[in-house]
Amino acid sequence: MVTNVVPATPASIEAAADALARGRLVAFPTETVYGLGADAANADAVRAIYAAKGRPPDHPLIVHLPDASHLDAWARRVPDGARALATAFWPGPLTLILPRHARVGDAVTGGDDNVGLRVPAHPVARALLAAFARRGGHGVAAPSANRYGHVSPTTAQHVADDLRDRVATILDGGPCEVGIESTIVAFDGDRPILMRPGGVGVDALARVLGRAPDAPGDDAPRASGTHASHYAPRAAAFLVDAHALVAELARLEERDEVVGVLARTVRRPDDFAGAWIDAPADVDGYARELYASLRSLDAAHPDAILVEAPPDGAAWLAVRDRLARATHR
Ligand code: TXA
Ligand code: MG
Repeated sequence: MVTNVVPATPASIEAAADALARGRLVAFPTETVYGLGADAANADAVRAIYAAKGRPPDHPLIVHLPDASHLDAWARRVPDGARALATAFWPGPLTLILPRHARVGDAVTGGDDNVGLRVPAHPVARALLAAFARRGGHGVAAPSANRYGHVSPTTAQHVADDLRDRVATILDGGPCEVGIESTIVAFDGDRPILMRPGGVGVDALARVLGRAPDAPGDDAPRASGTHASHYAPRAAAFLVDAHALVAELARLEERDEVVGVLARTVRRPDDFAGAWIDAPADVDGYARELYASLRSLDAAHPDAILVEAPPDGAAWLAVRDRLARATHR
């Protein structure tokens, strides 16, 4: 199979919807990261996602819907809080984990009784989902379009780098706006649980819910993105406080290690020879460029990547979560 990176146009989106309807895989942009999509009702097509990613088969997938009116066709029970979140944040970077409707297949949920649902906001994703619905399709199962455990893709090129000839069509809609994955909220009865911080901040969730979501306990639904070492670059990466960064860099260079740096406020020393990226100081810009920066630093095959620790505070929660996983060992 030859991978086809095609600019997203009305014609290529229609062709991609045809491919989905035939059971093929299509990578497409969302506002968070690129997704690797398949017809959620076609078990063979869904299995092909797991094979392409190298992902364990019991990890459930998010089903992407054209709009919120499809919610009740996929969830058998929608708590008031979930409906309020859907109304407030869809289309957008929010995934709801809800009790699955009887028609939802085991392939999508990994046998779980819950299903992950999201209405993405990216115009290409929306056009693709609408075109697929016109062909009788009901939803598109899509994990992030990276090899299992690797950093999520925020450009069509990232998808091609990871999946090469494992996906027939990659719709190129440019770089993703949000840059990190959707916020995932599950419900234990009516109690909201934050499974993964993401594109929708916890303050915004709390405003709509009237309370902050709880942290997941041991009995919460599983999520592969919650494994400690997810979203990792290939090189060993380390979080380093700003005040200690230059000294740590000098220590590694003294040992002749090739080092890449993702800085935010620290200035590059004049004598530093390795790859250095100055990340945007604001959280939205930082999140947007994070995965591309990690991939770019990784491409130089450094012995280590040093990441300046981001600020504390609720606004940086999702970024801190992803960096903690990228630097976990
Ligand atoms: O922003 C996003 O959410 C992107 C774009 C493509 O929509 N998708 C994404 O999918 O990040 P993925 O598969 O890489 O991460 C989804 C997470 C996984 O950790 C998965 O285990 C969890 O959501 N998840 C999906 N369905 C679930 C379910 N029924 N129960 C528990 N966790 C679920
Ligand atoms: Mg993923």
